[in-house]
Amino acid sequence: MILGSLAAALPFYPVNDFGPAMKGMVIGGLGIFHVFLAQFAIGGGLLLCYFQWLGQTGREPHARRFLDGYFKILVLISFVIGALTGVGMWFTTIQVSARTIGVMVDEFHWIWAIEWTFFCLEVAAGYTFLRWGDRLPDRIRLRLLIAYAFAAWMSLFWINGILAWQLTPGGWLDGGGVWAGFFNPSFWPSLLYRTVVAMALAALAAAIVINTMGDLAREDKRRLIVRAAHFLAPMALMAPLGLWYLAVIPADSRSWLLGGSIAMTMFVGIAAGASLLIGGYAAVGLLMQRLYINGATATLLLALAFGATGAGEFVREGARKPFTVRGYLYSNSLTPDEVATLRRTGSVVDDPYPLRDAARYPTAQLQTGAKVYRLQCSVCHTMHGANALTDLAGTWTDAQLRMNIAELQHTKPFMPPFAGDAAEVEAIAQLIRWETAGAPRRWPDTTGDAATLRQIAAWLDEAGTAPGGAPRPAPAAPAAPEAP
Ligand code: HEC
Repeated sequence: MILGSLAAALPFYPVNDFGPAMKGMVIGGLGIFHVFLAQFAIGGGLLLCYFQWLGQTGREPHARRFLDGYFKILVLISFVIGALTGVGMWFTTIQVSARTIGVMVDEFHWIWAIEWTFFCLEVAAGYTFLRWGDRLPDRIRLRLLIAYAFAAWMSLFWINGILAWQLTPGGWLDGGGVWAGFFNPSFWPSLLYRTVVAMALAALAAAIVINTMGDLAREDKRRLIVRAAHFLAPMALMAPLGLWYLAVIPADSRSWLLGGSIAMTMFVGIAAGASLLIGGYAAVGLLMQRLYINGATATLLLALAFGATGAGEFVREGARKPFTVRGYLYSNSLTPDEVATLRRTGSVVDDPYPLRDAARYPTAQLQTGAKVYRLQCSVCHTMHGANALTDLAGTWTDAQLRMNIAELQHTKPFMPPFAGDAAEVEAIAQLIRWETAGAPRRWPDTTGDAATLRQIAAWLDEAGTAPGGAPRPAPAAPAAPEAP
């Protein structure tokens, strides 16, 4: 395991900083886009199998025409944009959290290898179909499409285990090994949920494509759309699957989704509300009344689904805080064990990497603060942009600032405990003050203020090094009176 050694606690090379966008947001934003496309590709594969079957069994005369048009779009999206954003995910994760992706590769390399094998199969089957599909007999076409759909779904199967493991590592934490980590508590609910979402996205995209088939009579289009809408029916399972998921995630994550963090609660509401609207429209309009759905409506519904996917992914990523691998690796790439050590040694004394703009800081203390910020906070905060520290804490008094940083995991339980010594707390407190003041050329250095450092050290001790979501120990009971 790569995390055991203390050498790993050395700060990772700070590859990039993204200006006003916090690092977590960069990876989250790309992730949402990628997940949406990838899930569309999976649902699309299943939908193609269905339409090939409808066509070759004579159930639907225009199935074949639709299928060939839809396939081109699917290939374009899943092979080109899906693959590009997929590579983009690796490219951003190594910049934002090299250590997290390192652990994921280290623990699950065979699973990744299996996933890539399926991806290759998906590409090979898809490309064969694209190139020779129109010349092949129906029997072979169906087999190719089944191979394509199966491979696409299997790549979800393997990736899903790794992603779910990040939030609920389950028995892996107690040494259960790769399979305990892979088939973790949220594996099944999230796999099934994502499958339902994938099918719904495919159906909505199909409604758009069918509308573009100009030479078909309206009645023919309506029939195709109603067929595609069958893929919306599994949405009825979203509520029970969502509840199942909520039931297996850690209690503190659940409490944030259900009111504890209003931003996350609102996103849960948006995801649930948007899904309900799409599902309701599908149930009443398409399946019961057999309405025609025009291109504009279908596009709006798909946009709504994009919103729901985005909100859902935001919630899933947010619920994992303050960890990227729950109980094992904090979002800022430090482990719980290391926090205790770094409290004694300081976290940036050995940080060899220069600051991007070191001359900007008038004192050595502020430079230390900037390194502490870069190492411990910058994955979730910026100084002046998204979730900016100057906005959050700019109005605080000195004492408030020092105490809330020293007791970071209790200030907000979705932050990791502060992983440095009292001097580093003071350095970052001064940095926030200085940045809030507009980065003046002169600034007092408080390094020698022993009374302040003593007070901060007491706060650090009071906070302890356990994560904030853990139950607080009861205060010591007063000594029992002597028996008379
Ligand atoms: C895992 C992500 C994460 C990390 C790492 C993190 N924070 Fe935060 N922090 C948050 C979030 C989320 C909030 C809540 C923002 C809000 O309430 O709008 C927050 C809030 C704050 C606040 C305001 C608290 C309040 O009660 O209003 C301060 C101050 C703060 N963080 C400082 C820091 C400092 C200093 C560090 C680094 C030593 C740090 N944070 C590291 C996620 C993080």
